[in-house]
Amino acid sequence: MAMFQNSLPDLTKPPRPDGAEAPAVYIETYGCQMNTYDSQAIGGLLEGAGFRVVDNELAADAVLLNTCSVREHAEHKVISRVGELRHRRLEADLAPAIIGICGCMAERLGDDLRKGAKAVDLVVGVDNYDALPGLLRGLTGGGNAARPRGGAVTGHRHDAHYVAPPELYPTNNSHLVTIHKGCDYKCTYCIVPMTRGPQSEKAPEVIVEEIRSIVAQGGREVTLLGQNVTAYRCGDRLDFAGLLEMVAAIDGLERIRFLTGHPHDMHRHLMDTIGRLEKVCPWLHVPAQSGSDTVLRRMKRLYTAADYLDMVDYARRVIPGVSFSSDFIVGFPGETDADFRATLELVRRVQYDQIFSFKYSERPGVPAARLADDVPLEVKKSRLAELMAVQQEIWSAAADTLVGGLVTAVCEGPARRPAGAWRLRTANNRKVIVHGPEVAAGSSLEVRLTGWEGTTFFGESRAG
Ligand code: 5AD
Ligand code: SF4
Repeated sequence: MAMFQNSLPDLTKPPRPDGAEAPAVYIETYGCQMNTYDSQAIGGLLEGAGFRVVDNELAADAVLLNTCSVREHAEHKVISRVGELRHRRLEADLAPAIIGICGCMAERLGDDLRKGAKAVDLVVGVDNYDALPGLLRGLTGGGNAARPRGGAVTGHRHDAHYVAPPELYPTNNSHLVTIHKGCDYKCTYCIVPMTRGPQSEKAPEVIVEEIRSIVAQGGREVTLLGQNVTAYRCGDRLDFAGLLEMVAAIDGLERIRFLTGHPHDMHRHLMDTIGRLEKVCPWLHVPAQSGSDTVLRRMKRLYTAADYLDMVDYARRVIPGVSFSSDFIVGFPGETDADFRATLELVRRVQYDQIFSFKYSERPGVPAARLADDVPLEVKKSRLAELMAVQQEIWSAAADTLVGGLVTAVCEGPARRPAGAWRLRTANNRKVIVHGPEVAAGSSLEVRLTGWEGTTFFGESRAG
């Protein structure tokens, strides 16, 4: 590391008014949508402070990795990426870039990330991004032996709610809007309460203002984001259902999605509201994590499999055309084969559109770390494979029955492949690829489904 320090780029110069010499920052995002939103906010903040955000690591004076700690693997990826970044710069004969770690890993590991072989220059946790411009400027190679200051800034601040400027960073067609941060649940496997801190709400007026500005710039759809959006609460004044009502009243806004729901907060009143408000899309991402009551109790999820299924049944009654997706963890401490069978049973009962399943990964300091991680890796792997195969079988049958039908879908932009195709999404979050003449992002099409692959359908525009 020391060999890089003297040649770090000088970011201390004040920005020129035309921005031509503004130092360039490349931001790379890992983890969940909260991080995607935060990266947009960091970009906006840095541009406001005279930096340039670039989309190529080799063109950057500083590289920020916005990281995730949810599983050990996510952290390993980032550490190896730090090595790779340096290596690529050396190979390209470029001066080393300043490397910074933001996000959940920054919060969890703090100053430790500035030590050892993979030491980075700066570390900024989830509530301290306003420190970034100053820190980046303070990092200079000027002079010979001067050690760059850099630093680690972490710790939770109740007041720090960042707002991503929508005009600079539209994401697809659905603009992300974080409505609260942190988490007050105590799921025993989860690092998030440690990395993101206690739940703290953005004020409803701030959320509405942010969405109005998205609409004023042509946005028609938002995705409300939070670790547990369904736990949103502004004193006694407003809960998540109330917030949905407020957001749905915004003129010009057409669709509202939200992520992630907690089954414990999916009250009937909330489901009634979702069903009643036409702008709220009929898609619920409500992670079940397990179908075994014993495991759910040990995870402190606050519901039983029967509660969960009641919630699903009620939602199907009051939210027309609702679809579900979920997360599952296999191999949680003490999970028996019978526990795992109960998970498969729940997956069969619900008939999800999509599930995200993970092998349990012990995280330091979480309550479950006191339990023995006693399900052997081979068993975790085989349960994961079996769960995915069951889901595949369920989804294949469901998808086959949808082929031939008509859906309304909104264009999100060009498909990555094949060329000349467009990527659309239905209200209940099904992806559809349509060939044909250009479709403007945000416009709505009637599509006949002709086939599917994975979780994506293919279709033909009725108009085309
Ligand atoms: N191990 C494995 N998966 C985890 N998740 C959260 N914590 C862990 C962990 N320690 C999963 C949950 C959550 C998703 C975002 O990540 O399923 O819903
Ligand atoms: Fe990962 Fe959770 Fe942090 Fe999102 S909040 S980046 S999922 S640890």
